[in-house]
Amino acid sequence: MSQLEHYPVLHREVINFFKGIEGGYIVDATVGGGGHSFLILKNFPEVKIIGIDKDEYAIKIADQKLKQFEGRYTLIQSSFKDLDAVLDQLGIRYVQGFLFDLGVSIYHLKTGRGFSFQREEPLDMRMDRSQSLTAYHVVNRYPKNLLEKIIFEYGEEKFAKRIVKSILEERKKKPIETTKQLAQIVYRSYPPPLRRGRIHPATKTFQAIRIEVNDELSEIKQGVSKGIDRLEKNGIIQVISFHSLEDRIVKNIFREARKLKKLELLTKKPITPGEEEIKENPPSRSAKLRAGKRI
Ligand SMILES: C[S@@+](CC[C@H](N)C(=O)[O-])C[C@H]1O[C@@H](n2cnc3c(N)ncnc32)[C@H](O)[C@@H]1O
Repeated sequence: MSQLEHYPVLHREVINFFKGIEGGYIVDATVGGGGHSFLILKNFPEVKIIGIDKDEYAIKIADQKLKQFEGRYTLIQSSFKDLDAVLDQLGIRYVQGFLFDLGVSIYHLKTGRGFSFQREEPLDMRMDRSQSLTAYHVVNRYPKNLLEKIIFEYGEEKFAKRIVKSILEERKKKPIETTKQLAQIVYRSYPPPLRRGRIHPATKTFQAIRIEVNDELSEIKQGVSKGIDRLEKNGIIQVISFHSLEDRIVKNIFREARKLKKLELLTKKPITPGEEEIKENPPSRSAKLRAGKRI
């Protein structure tokens, strides 16, 4: 088992914010490998978990991980943007807590699904494999302007135009099929002095395409807003994001909810992992946690 599964991101802080919840339900809206849910079930013996994930594989892994708490958790494959429908189906109106731990999971990066450019994989990047839109379609079929916009906005990539020019040249010759092919195209589009930085030039482009394929930003807006509305008084919502676009959305939704007197902000600035956690689990480096309490 990987370290990531042993140490879910900011787990001490997540458990701390939930302290005071004595029973009822906590929705783990991104149950993933079940790491946070495991700790919640262990630390709060009266609490039950509703675990949601888009990815059927995640649901299977979480089920194995949580087995010892049989009867105290329910796992549902769904997007969290539909969490209201999920709760309605279960006959639950309000819950005591929500956790969103956004983004991809270690198993996405290691199971050949096109999220990683370290290995040769087909361009896929779907979290929910029943949907039709894939990274292949975005890279090979999207028109120039749309592709530039996505890479510029979702990747915050200032070389978007150069990258898209190269993608268009390549795909005219033959389709771009794999992650490595795409990574090399991006690499070659970068100005030579900037190709060898700490972060691979393809990182931002991959982030952008992943966000597009999974409609991530729109789903975060819908899911987090619905979460606030389904929290009981004094209930706690926590969101861990991994890049500035996500964090900005969460910050704005929380601020708006504060103005509407729905939410008290428990984190003026987002909480980030300490040095020790970053050493144990380097990908946690970019995590930001925001928490709020329902008024
Ligand atoms: C960082 S992982 C969560 C890890 C988990 N907290 C743990 O401790 O194992 C993020 C998970 O969220 C899922 N996910 C991302 N966007 C989603 C969405 N809109 N709805 C439901 N699940 C989503 C991904 O499939 C992935 O399994």
